Amino acid sequence: GLCTTMTRTLLAIDQGTTSTRAIVFDTTGQVVARAQRELPQIFPAAGWVEHDPERIWSDTLAVCRTALAESPERPLAIGITNQRETTVLWDRATGKPVYHAIVWQDRRTAGLCEALAAAGHGDTVTARTGLVLDPYFSATKIRWLLDTLPGLRQRAEAGEIAFGTLDSFLLWRLTEGRVHATDATNAARTMLFNIHSQCWDDTLLTLFDIPRALLPEVYDNAHPFGTTTLFGPPLPITGMAGDQQAATVGQACFRPGRVKSTYGTGCFMVQNTGDTVVASRHRLLSTVCYRLEGQPTYAVEGSIFIAGAAVQWLRDAIRLIGHAGETEALARGIDHTGGVYLVPAFTGLGAPYWDPLARGAIIGLTRDSGIAHIVRAALESVCYQTRDLMEAMRADGTEAPDALRVDGGMVANDWLMQFLADMLAVPVERPRVIETTALGAAGLAGLGAGVFDSLDALETLWQRAAAFSPSLPDNRRNALYHGWRDAVNRTLSRN
Ligand code: G3P
Repeated sequence: GLCTTMTRTLLAIDQGTTSTRAIVFDTTGQVVARAQRELPQIFPAAGWVEHDPERIWSDTLAVCRTALAESPERPLAIGITNQRETTVLWDRATGKPVYHAIVWQDRRTAGLCEALAAAGHGDTVTARTGLVLDPYFSATKIRWLLDTLPGLRQRAEAGEIAFGTLDSFLLWRLTEGRVHATDATNAARTMLFNIHSQCWDDTLLTLFDIPRALLPEVYDNAHPFGTTTLFGPPLPITGMAGDQQAATVGQACFRPGRVKSTYGTGCFMVQNTGDTVVASRHRLLSTVCYRLEGQPTYAVEGSIFIAGAAVQWLRDAIRLIGHAGETEALARGIDHTGGVYLVPAFTGLGAPYWDPLARGAIIGLTRDSGIAHIVRAALESVCYQTRDLMEAMRADGTEAPDALRVDGGMVANDWLMQFLADMLAVPVERPRVIETTALGAAGLAGLGAGVFDSLDALETLWQRAAAFSPSLPDNRRNALYHGWRDAVNRTLSRN
Protein backbone atom coordinates (compact mmCIF):
# COMPACT_ATOMS: atom_id res chain seq x y z
CA GLY A 1 0.00 0.00 0.00
CA LEU A 2 0.95 3.63 -0.01
CA CYS A 3 2.99 4.93 2.80
CA THR A 4 5.21 7.90 3.39
CA THR A 5 8.33 7.73 5.47
CA MET A 6 10.20 10.54 7.11
CA THR A 7 13.48 10.93 5.28
CA ARG A 8 16.22 12.32 7.43
CA THR A 9 18.77 14.40 5.57
CA LEU A 10 22.30 15.79 5.90
CA LEU A 11 23.80 18.80 4.12
CA ALA A 12 27.34 18.57 2.69
CA ILE A 13 29.24 21.72 1.74
CA ASP A 14 31.98 20.82 -0.79
CA GLN A 15 34.25 23.82 -1.30
CA GLY A 16 36.56 22.67 -4.15
CA THR A 17 39.25 24.34 -6.22
CA THR A 18 37.00 25.14 -9.17
CA SER A 19 33.53 25.10 -7.62
CA THR A 20 31.53 25.37 -4.42
CA ARG A 21 28.64 22.92 -3.96
CA ALA A 22 25.95 22.12 -1.46
CA ILE A 23 24.38 18.66 -1.65
CA VAL A 24 21.62 17.28 0.56
CA PHE A 25 21.67 13.50 1.05
CA ASP A 26 19.12 11.30 2.67
CA THR A 27 20.39 8.73 5.17
CA THR A 28 20.56 6.03 2.49
CA GLY A 29 23.12 8.16 0.63
CA GLN A 30 20.85 9.37 -2.18
CA VAL A 31 21.13 12.96 -3.40
CA VAL A 32 17.88 14.83 -2.73
CA ALA A 33 18.93 18.42 -3.54
CA ARG A 34 22.00 20.17 -4.88
CA ALA A 35 23.39 23.50 -6.01
CA GLN A 36 26.75 24.54 -7.43
CA ARG A 37 28.69 27.69 -8.37
CA GLU A 38 31.90 27.91 -10.40
CA LEU A 39 34.80 29.66 -8.67
CA PRO A 40 36.92 32.15 -10.66
CA GLN A 41 40.67 31.53 -10.55
CA ILE A 42 42.99 34.49 -10.03
CA PHE A 43 46.47 34.33 -11.61
CA PRO A 44 48.37 37.48 -10.49
CA ALA A 45 51.76 36.23 -11.75
CA ALA A 46 53.30 33.17 -13.42
CA GLY A 47 52.82 30.18 -11.12
CA TRP A 48 50.63 32.13 -8.65
CA VAL A 49 47.04 31.02 -8.02
CA GLU A 50 44.60 32.81 -5.69
CA HIS A 51 40.92 32.74 -4.75
CA ASP A 52 38.77 35.52 -3.33
CA PRO A 53 37.65 34.29 0.13
CA GLU A 54 34.66 36.68 0.11
CA ARG A 55 33.51 35.13 -3.18
CA ILE A 56 33.92 31.65 -1.66
CA TRP A 57 31.83 32.79 1.32
CA SER A 58 29.03 34.35 -0.76
CA ASP A 59 28.95 31.28 -3.04
CA THR A 60 28.76 29.03 0.02
CA LEU A 61 25.79 30.93 1.39
CA ALA A 62 24.09 30.95 -2.01
CA VAL A 63 24.48 27.23 -2.74
CA CYS A 64 23.39 26.29 0.79
CA ARG A 65 20.27 28.44 0.51
CA THR A 66 19.37 26.99 -2.90
CA ALA A 67 19.92 23.39 -1.83
CA LEU A 68 18.00 23.92 1.42
CA ALA A 69 15.09 25.48 -0.47
CA GLU A 70 14.96 22.46 -2.80
CA SER A 71 15.40 19.88 -0.08
CA PRO A 72 12.20 18.05 0.86
CA GLU A 73 13.25 18.32 4.46
CA ARG A 74 15.44 20.39 6.74
CA PRO A 75 18.81 18.63 7.34
CA LEU A 76 19.78 17.37 10.76
CA ALA A 77 23.41 18.49 10.45
CA ILE A 78 26.07 19.97 8.17
CA GLY A 79 29.36 18.42 7.02
CA ILE A 80 32.13 20.55 5.50
CA THR A 81 34.70 19.28 2.98
CA ASN A 82 37.16 21.41 1.08
CA GLN A 83 40.13 21.90 -1.21
CA ARG A 84 43.05 21.23 1.09
CA GLU A 85 46.15 23.34 1.89
CA THR A 86 44.72 26.59 0.44
CA THR A 87 45.58 29.28 2.97
CA VAL A 88 43.54 32.19 4.39
CA LEU A 89 44.59 34.62 7.13
CA TRP A 90 41.89 36.86 8.60
CA ASP A 91 41.41 39.51 11.26
CA ARG A 92 39.79 37.96 14.34
CA ALA A 93 38.02 41.24 15.22
CA THR A 94 36.36 41.86 11.85
CA GLY A 95 36.48 38.42 10.17
CA LYS A 96 38.01 40.12 7.10
CA PRO A 97 40.73 38.24 5.19
CA VAL A 98 44.04 40.11 5.08
CA TYR A 99 44.76 38.90 1.52
CA HIS A 100 43.32 36.51 -1.07
CA ALA A 101 43.44 32.78 -0.34
CA ILE A 102 46.73 31.35 -1.66
CA VAL A 103 45.75 28.16 -3.51
CA TRP A 104 47.43 24.76 -3.12
CA GLN A 105 48.64 24.92 -6.74
CA ASP A 106 50.51 28.19 -6.11
CA ARG A 107 54.30 27.93 -6.64
CA ARG A 108 55.41 31.33 -5.24
CA THR A 109 57.23 29.75 -2.30
CA ALA A 110 59.34 27.35 -4.38
CA GLY A 111 62.49 29.33 -3.55
CA LEU A 112 61.82 29.20 0.19
CA CYS A 113 61.23 25.43 -0.04
CA GLU A 114 64.48 24.97 -1.96
CA ALA A 115 66.38 27.00 0.62
CA LEU A 116 64.94 24.97 3.51
CA ALA A 117 65.74 21.74 1.67
CA ALA A 118 69.27 22.94 0.92
CA ALA A 119 69.70 23.70 4.63
CA GLY A 120 68.88 20.06 5.32
CA HIS A 121 65.38 20.39 6.80
CA GLY A 122 63.59 18.06 4.37
CA ASP A 123 63.92 14.92 6.49
CA THR A 124 62.69 16.68 9.67
CA VAL A 125 59.61 17.93 7.85
CA THR A 126 58.85 14.54 6.29
CA ALA A 127 59.41 12.61 9.52
CA ARG A 128 56.94 14.83 11.41
CA THR A 129 54.31 15.59 8.77
CA GLY A 130 54.51 12.74 6.23
CA LEU A 131 54.77 15.40 3.51
CA VAL A 132 57.52 16.45 1.08
CA LEU A 133 58.98 19.96 1.42
CA ASP A 134 57.05 21.57 -1.44
CA PRO A 135 55.07 24.81 -1.99
CA TYR A 136 51.91 22.63 -2.25
CA PHE A 137 51.33 22.80 1.54
CA SER A 138 50.19 25.71 3.78
CA ALA A 139 53.27 26.47 5.94
CA THR A 140 55.33 28.40 3.41
CA LYS A 141 52.23 30.22 2.17
CA ILE A 142 51.57 31.52 5.72
CA ARG A 143 55.23 32.47 6.01
CA TRP A 144 55.05 34.40 2.72
CA LEU A 145 52.07 36.41 3.96
CA LEU A 146 53.78 37.20 7.31
CA ASP A 147 56.94 38.28 5.51
CA THR A 148 55.20 40.29 2.80
CA LEU A 149 52.25 42.20 4.30
CA PRO A 150 53.37 45.22 6.38
CA GLY A 151 52.70 44.86 10.11
CA LEU A 152 51.09 41.44 9.75
CA ARG A 153 53.67 39.51 11.76
CA GLN A 154 53.27 41.80 14.79
CA ARG A 155 49.49 41.51 14.62
CA ALA A 156 49.79 37.73 14.32
CA GLU A 157 52.08 37.59 17.36
CA ALA A 158 49.59 39.73 19.30
CA GLY A 159 46.88 37.14 18.59
CA GLU A 160 44.84 39.41 16.32
CA ILE A 161 45.03 37.18 13.22
CA ALA A 162 43.62 33.71 12.52
CA PHE A 163 44.91 31.13 10.01
CA GLY A 164 42.70 28.57 8.38
CA THR A 165 42.25 26.35 5.37
CA LEU A 166 38.81 26.77 3.78
CA ASP A 167 37.14 24.44 6.30
CA SER A 168 38.20 26.71 9.20
CA PHE A 169 37.33 29.89 7.36
CA LEU A 170 33.84 28.64 6.49
CA LEU A 171 33.30 27.33 10.04
CA TRP A 172 34.33 30.74 11.44
CA ARG A 173 31.90 32.51 9.11
CA LEU A 174 29.07 30.01 9.66
CA THR A 175 29.42 30.39 13.43
CA GLU A 176 29.81 34.19 13.11
CA GLY A 177 33.28 34.16 14.66
CA ARG A 178 32.49 31.91 17.60
CA VAL A 179 34.59 28.91 16.51
CA HIS A 180 38.16 28.74 15.19
CA ALA A 181 38.77 25.06 14.52
CA THR A 182 39.82 22.50 11.95
CA ASP A 183 39.96 18.70 11.73
CA ALA A 184 42.92 16.33 11.78
CA THR A 185 42.90 15.65 8.00
CA ASN A 186 43.07 19.32 7.07
CA ALA A 187 45.62 20.03 9.82
CA ALA A 188 47.78 17.22 8.39
CA ARG A 189 48.19 19.18 5.13
CA THR A 190 49.47 22.41 6.68
CA MET A 191 53.03 21.08 7.22
CA LEU A 192 52.79 22.34 10.82
CA PHE A 193 50.97 19.33 12.31
CA ASN A 194 52.74 16.29 13.70
CA ILE A 195 50.79 13.31 12.37
CA HIS A 196 52.25 10.97 15.03
CA SER A 197 51.45 13.05 18.12
CA GLN A 198 48.36 14.65 16.48
CA CYS A 199 49.46 18.08 17.74
CA TRP A 200 50.76 21.31 16.25
CA ASP A 201 54.54 20.85 16.21
CA ASP A 202 56.72 23.50 17.92
CA THR A 203 59.81 22.41 15.99
CA LEU A 204 57.99 23.09 12.72
CA LEU A 205 56.50 26.36 13.97
CA THR A 206 60.05 27.49 14.79
CA LEU A 207 61.45 26.23 11.50
CA PHE A 208 58.82 28.08 9.44
CA ASP A 209 58.77 31.03 11.89
CA ILE A 210 55.00 30.96 12.38
CA PRO A 211 53.35 32.19 15.63
CA ARG A 212 51.31 29.58 17.51
CA ALA A 213 48.59 32.21 18.08
CA LEU A 214 47.46 31.91 14.44
CA LEU A 215 46.39 28.30 14.67
CA PRO A 216 42.92 26.74 15.06
CA GLU A 217 41.96 23.95 17.47
CA VAL A 218 42.17 20.49 15.88
CA TYR A 219 39.31 18.02 16.34
CA ASP A 220 38.20 14.61 15.08
CA ASN A 221 36.39 14.39 11.73
CA ALA A 222 33.08 13.73 13.49
CA HIS A 223 32.74 16.33 16.24
CA PRO A 224 30.32 19.06 17.43
CA PHE A 225 32.25 21.85 15.67
CA GLY A 226 29.60 24.51 16.20
CA THR A 227 26.15 25.69 15.24
CA THR A 228 24.99 28.06 12.53
CA THR A 229 21.87 30.18 12.71
CA LEU A 230 22.33 31.68 9.24
CA PHE A 231 19.75 29.34 7.67
CA GLY A 232 16.94 29.67 10.21
CA PRO A 233 16.79 27.58 13.40
CA PRO A 234 20.18 26.39 14.70
CA LEU A 235 21.88 23.76 12.53
CA PRO A 236 24.83 21.86 14.00
CA ILE A 237 28.08 21.37 12.04
CA THR A 238 29.17 17.88 13.03
CA GLY A 239 31.51 16.66 10.29
CA MET A 240 34.61 18.01 8.56
CA ALA A 241 37.40 16.57 6.35
CA GLY A 242 39.71 17.54 3.51
CA ASP A 243 38.15 16.62 0.17
CA GLN A 244 40.38 13.66 -0.74
CA GLN A 245 39.92 12.17 2.72
CA ALA A 246 36.17 12.79 2.54
CA ALA A 247 36.13 10.91 -0.79
CA THR A 248 38.02 8.07 0.89
CA VAL A 249 35.28 7.93 3.54
CA GLY A 250 32.58 8.19 0.83
CA GLN A 251 34.23 5.22 -0.88
CA ALA A 252 34.11 3.31 2.42
CA CYS A 253 37.87 2.64 2.42
CA PHE A 254 37.79 1.67 6.09
CA ARG A 255 40.19 -1.29 6.02
CA PRO A 256 43.95 -1.21 5.47
CA GLY A 257 44.61 -1.87 1.78
CA ARG A 258 41.37 -0.30 0.55
CA VAL A 259 42.17 2.34 -2.06
CA LYS A 260 40.28 4.98 -4.03
CA SER A 261 41.19 7.22 -6.95
CA THR A 262 39.34 10.44 -7.74
CA TYR A 263 39.58 11.54 -11.38
CA GLY A 264 38.94 15.26 -11.72
CA THR A 265 41.30 17.82 -13.20
CA GLY A 266 44.05 15.73 -11.67
CA CYS A 267 43.92 12.43 -9.85
CA PHE A 268 44.39 11.73 -6.15
CA MET A 269 44.89 8.11 -5.07
CA VAL A 270 44.54 7.40 -1.35
CA GLN A 271 45.13 4.03 0.32
CA ASN A 272 44.15 3.30 3.92
CA THR A 273 47.19 2.04 5.89
CA GLY A 274 45.44 1.58 9.24
CA ASP A 275 47.54 2.40 12.33
CA THR A 276 50.74 2.54 10.29
CA VAL A 277 52.41 5.71 9.05
CA VAL A 278 54.19 4.49 5.91
CA ALA A 279 57.60 6.13 5.49
CA SER A 280 57.51 6.26 1.69
CA ARG A 281 60.73 5.62 -0.19
CA HIS A 282 59.00 6.63 -3.43
CA ARG A 283 57.94 10.16 -2.52
CA LEU A 284 54.33 9.35 -1.82
CA LEU A 285 52.76 11.35 1.00
CA SER A 286 51.73 9.92 4.36
CA THR A 287 48.68 11.57 5.79
CA VAL A 288 45.74 11.26 8.15
CA CYS A 289 42.97 9.28 6.46
CA TYR A 290 40.47 10.13 9.21
CA ARG A 291 40.43 10.48 13.00
CA LEU A 292 37.49 9.28 15.07
CA GLU A 293 37.23 9.19 18.87
CA GLY A 294 40.80 10.48 19.06
CA GLN A 295 42.12 7.51 17.08
CA PRO A 296 43.91 8.38 13.82
CA THR A 297 43.80 6.08 10.80
CA TYR A 298 46.55 6.82 8.28
CA ALA A 299 46.85 6.72 4.50
CA VAL A 300 49.38 6.99 1.69
CA GLU A 301 48.53 9.38 -1.10
CA GLY A 302 49.77 9.90 -4.63
CA SER A 303 48.83 12.94 -6.72
CA ILE A 304 48.80 13.24 -10.51
CA PHE A 305 48.40 16.83 -11.72
CA ILE A 306 46.74 16.13 -15.10
CA ALA A 307 43.95 13.57 -15.65
CA GLY A 308 40.68 15.09 -16.92
CA ALA A 309 42.67 18.18 -17.87
CA ALA A 310 44.30 16.13 -20.66
CA VAL A 311 40.86 15.70 -22.25
CA GLN A 312 40.16 19.42 -21.81
CA TRP A 313 43.44 20.09 -23.60
CA LEU A 314 42.39 17.83 -26.51
CA ARG A 315 39.14 19.79 -26.72
CA ASP A 316 40.18 23.39 -26.01
CA ALA A 317 43.83 23.68 -26.99
CA ILE A 318 44.38 21.43 -30.01
CA ARG A 319 40.66 20.86 -30.75
CA LEU A 320 40.87 17.20 -31.76
CA ILE A 321 37.44 16.70 -30.21
CA GLY A 322 34.38 18.88 -29.69
CA HIS A 323 33.18 17.25 -26.50
CA ALA A 324 34.77 15.03 -23.82
CA GLY A 325 32.08 12.40 -24.46
CA GLU A 326 33.54 11.73 -27.94
CA THR A 327 36.72 10.21 -26.53
CA GLU A 328 35.18 6.87 -25.63
CA ALA A 329 34.04 6.02 -29.19
CA LEU A 330 37.34 7.24 -30.69
CA ALA A 331 39.35 5.05 -28.31
CA ARG A 332 37.12 2.02 -28.95
CA GLY A 333 37.36 2.51 -32.71
CA ILE A 334 41.00 1.38 -32.87
CA ASP A 335 42.71 -1.70 -31.43
CA HIS A 336 45.74 0.15 -30.09
CA THR A 337 47.58 3.46 -30.47
CA GLY A 338 50.25 1.90 -32.70
CA GLY A 339 52.96 2.94 -30.25
CA VAL A 340 51.76 6.53 -29.75
CA TYR A 341 52.12 7.85 -26.16
CA LEU A 342 50.99 11.18 -24.76
CA VAL A 343 52.75 12.31 -21.58
CA PRO A 344 50.58 15.10 -20.08
CA ALA A 345 53.37 16.79 -18.12
CA PHE A 346 51.85 20.22 -18.83
CA THR A 347 52.60 21.44 -15.30
CA GLY A 348 55.49 19.12 -14.60
CA LEU A 349 55.01 15.65 -13.15
CA GLY A 350 53.76 14.85 -9.63
CA ALA A 351 54.15 11.56 -7.77
CA PRO A 352 56.27 9.54 -8.05
CA TYR A 353 58.46 11.67 -10.37
CA TRP A 354 58.09 15.15 -8.75
CA ASP A 355 59.70 16.93 -11.69
CA PRO A 356 58.31 20.49 -11.88
CA LEU A 357 60.34 21.19 -15.04
CA ALA A 358 59.16 18.18 -17.09
CA ARG A 359 56.92 19.17 -20.02
CA GLY A 360 54.36 17.30 -22.12
CA ALA A 361 55.08 15.23 -25.22
CA ILE A 362 53.43 13.07 -27.87
CA ILE A 363 55.83 10.44 -29.13
CA GLY A 364 55.79 7.47 -31.50
CA LEU A 365 53.94 9.19 -34.36
CA THR A 366 53.89 7.53 -37.79
CA ARG A 367 52.20 8.37 -41.13
CA ASP A 368 49.06 6.49 -40.11
CA SER A 369 48.73 8.10 -36.66
CA GLY A 370 45.49 10.05 -36.49
CA ILE A 371 43.16 11.81 -34.13
CA ALA A 372 41.91 8.56 -32.59
CA HIS A 373 45.46 7.47 -31.73
CA ILE A 374 46.25 10.72 -29.93
CA VAL A 375 42.91 10.78 -28.12
CA ARG A 376 43.32 7.19 -27.03
CA ALA A 377 46.91 7.89 -25.92
CA ALA A 378 45.61 10.75 -23.74
CA LEU A 379 43.08 8.44 -22.04
CA GLU A 380 45.67 5.70 -21.66
CA SER A 381 48.05 8.18 -19.97
CA VAL A 382 45.58 8.49 -17.08
CA CYS A 383 45.74 4.71 -16.58
CA TYR A 384 49.54 4.52 -16.90
CA GLN A 385 49.93 7.27 -14.30
CA THR A 386 47.54 5.43 -11.98
CA ARG A 387 49.73 2.34 -12.38
CA ASP A 388 52.80 4.48 -11.53
CA LEU A 389 51.12 5.40 -8.23
CA MET A 390 49.96 1.88 -7.49
CA GLU A 391 53.43 0.46 -8.18
CA ALA A 392 54.96 3.09 -5.87
CA MET A 393 52.50 2.11 -3.13
CA ARG A 394 53.32 -1.56 -3.58
CA ALA A 395 57.05 -0.80 -3.58
CA ASP A 396 56.52 1.01 -0.26
CA GLY A 397 55.14 -2.25 1.09
CA THR A 398 51.46 -1.31 1.38
CA GLU A 399 48.89 -4.07 1.17
CA ALA A 400 47.88 -5.35 -2.28
CA PRO A 401 44.40 -3.99 -2.92
CA ASP A 402 41.66 -6.34 -4.04
CA ALA A 403 40.04 -3.54 -6.06
CA LEU A 404 40.39 0.14 -6.93
CA ARG A 405 37.32 2.28 -6.13
CA VAL A 406 36.96 5.18 -8.55
CA ASP A 407 35.01 8.43 -8.65
CA GLY A 408 35.05 11.80 -10.40
CA GLY A 409 33.81 12.97 -13.79
CA MET A 410 36.06 10.76 -15.97
CA VAL A 411 34.85 7.48 -14.53
CA ALA A 412 31.67 7.61 -16.62
CA ASN A 413 33.88 6.46 -19.53
CA ASP A 414 33.51 2.65 -19.61
CA TRP A 415 36.35 2.14 -22.07
CA LEU A 416 38.69 4.07 -19.78
CA MET A 417 37.63 2.03 -16.74
CA GLN A 418 38.27 -1.24 -18.62
CA PHE A 419 41.72 -0.09 -19.75
CA LEU A 420 42.44 1.01 -16.16
CA ALA A 421 41.55 -2.45 -14.83
CA ASP A 422 43.68 -4.03 -17.58
CA MET A 423 46.67 -1.81 -16.84
CA LEU A 424 46.53 -2.31 -13.06
CA ALA A 425 45.58 -6.01 -13.20
CA VAL A 426 43.20 -5.06 -10.39
CA PRO A 427 39.38 -4.89 -10.64
CA VAL A 428 37.98 -1.36 -10.84
CA GLU A 429 34.75 -0.57 -8.96
CA ARG A 430 32.46 2.34 -9.73
CA PRO A 431 29.92 3.20 -7.02
CA ARG A 432 26.30 4.19 -7.36
CA VAL A 433 26.93 7.68 -5.93
CA ILE A 434 29.71 9.40 -7.88
CA GLU A 435 29.59 12.45 -5.52
CA THR A 436 31.71 10.53 -3.05
CA THR A 437 33.48 13.60 -1.62
CA ALA A 438 30.20 15.20 -0.53
CA LEU A 439 28.83 11.80 0.51
CA GLY A 440 31.83 11.33 2.81
CA ALA A 441 31.29 14.75 4.40
CA ALA A 442 27.60 13.97 4.92
CA GLY A 443 28.54 10.60 6.39
CA LEU A 444 30.95 12.21 8.88
CA ALA A 445 28.28 14.78 9.80
CA GLY A 446 25.87 11.90 10.33
CA LEU A 447 28.39 10.16 12.60
CA GLY A 448 28.87 13.38 14.56
CA ALA A 449 25.12 13.91 14.86
CA GLY A 450 24.42 10.35 15.96
CA VAL A 451 22.46 9.50 12.79
CA PHE A 452 25.04 6.76 12.15
CA ASP A 453 26.62 4.93 15.05
CA SER A 454 29.76 3.57 13.36
CA LEU A 455 31.78 3.26 10.18
CA ASP A 456 29.90 0.00 9.55
CA ALA A 457 26.75 2.08 9.12
CA LEU A 458 28.59 4.31 6.61
CA GLU A 459 29.76 1.22 4.76
CA THR A 460 26.16 0.45 3.84
CA LEU A 461 25.92 3.78 1.98
CA TRP A 462 28.51 2.54 -0.50
CA GLN A 463 27.09 0.43 -3.28
CA ARG A 464 28.87 -0.84 -6.35
CA ALA A 465 27.15 0.15 -9.59
CA ALA A 466 29.70 -1.33 -12.03
CA ALA A 467 32.86 -3.45 -11.93
CA PHE A 468 35.56 -3.85 -14.58
CA SER A 469 37.70 -6.99 -14.48
CA PRO A 470 41.22 -7.15 -15.87
CA SER A 471 41.41 -9.20 -19.06
CA LEU A 472 44.62 -8.17 -20.83
CA PRO A 473 47.40 -10.80 -20.86
CA ASP A 474 50.38 -9.88 -18.65
CA ASN A 475 52.90 -9.70 -21.49
CA ARG A 476 50.75 -7.21 -23.41
CA ARG A 477 49.99 -5.15 -20.31
CA ASN A 478 53.63 -4.92 -19.33
CA ALA A 479 54.83 -4.15 -22.85
CA LEU A 480 52.42 -1.22 -23.09
CA TYR A 481 53.49 0.04 -19.66
CA HIS A 482 57.19 -0.19 -20.50
CA GLY A 483 56.48 1.99 -23.52
CA TRP A 484 54.93 4.54 -21.16
CA ARG A 485 57.95 4.53 -18.83
CA ASP A 486 60.18 5.05 -21.83
CA ALA A 487 58.01 7.99 -22.98
CA VAL A 488 58.13 9.56 -19.48
CA ASN A 489 61.92 9.23 -19.41
CA ARG A 490 62.11 11.31 -22.56
CA THR A 491 60.15 14.16 -20.95
CA LEU A 492 62.03 14.40 -17.61
CA SER A 493 64.11 17.56 -17.13
CA ARG A 494 66.95 15.59 -15.56
CA ASN A 495 67.91 13.90 -18.86
O1 G3P B 1 45.15 18.80 -2.32
C1 G3P B 1 44.31 19.51 -3.18
C2 G3P B 1 42.97 18.87 -3.26
O2 G3P B 1 42.37 18.79 -2.00
C3 G3P B 1 42.12 19.63 -4.26
O3 G3P B 1 41.05 18.90 -4.69
O4 G3P B 1 39.04 18.48 -6.01
O5 G3P B 1 39.39 20.76 -5.02
O6 G3P B 1 40.80 20.01 -6.93
P1 G3P B 1 40.00 19.58 -5.72
